[in-house]
Amino acid sequence: MARMNAPIPPSPTEAGYYRHHVFFCLNERANGEDCCALHGAKAGFDYCKRAVQAAGLAGPGQVRVNKAGCLDRCSAAPVVVVYPEAVWYTFIDESDIDEIIESHLKHGKVVERLRIPAHMGR
Ligand code: FES
Repeated sequence: MARMNAPIPPSPTEAGYYRHHVFFCLNERANGEDCCALHGAKAGFDYCKRAVQAAGLAGPGQVRVNKAGCLDRCSAAPVVVVYPEAVWYTFIDESDIDEIIESHLKHGKVVERLRIPAHMGR
């Protein structure tokens, strides 16, 4: 029997199957060149997946967190991009990821302090 007070998850819309789609670059270079894998990308990805799930935000109509290959902005590693807004972030630790989840993914407010400056590319 379903819980009476359980929130009804939002439905996917024609505008977007997910409200937010989050891509973490997990690229690793065998030649030893710098890459997101050397800057905690996998740990950040794993943490974000768990935190989004725990917050009840995961799934159609809500948030999807995916792995990505090199996004060609390696100088800002580790690199995360959130669509549909196309906001690019970097992070240091789990508290930064918590802030992206709470502010951007929950409330639609971009975390300016974690944005990657426009000039930073590969
Ligand atoms: S290695 Fe992550 S953006 Fe290139």
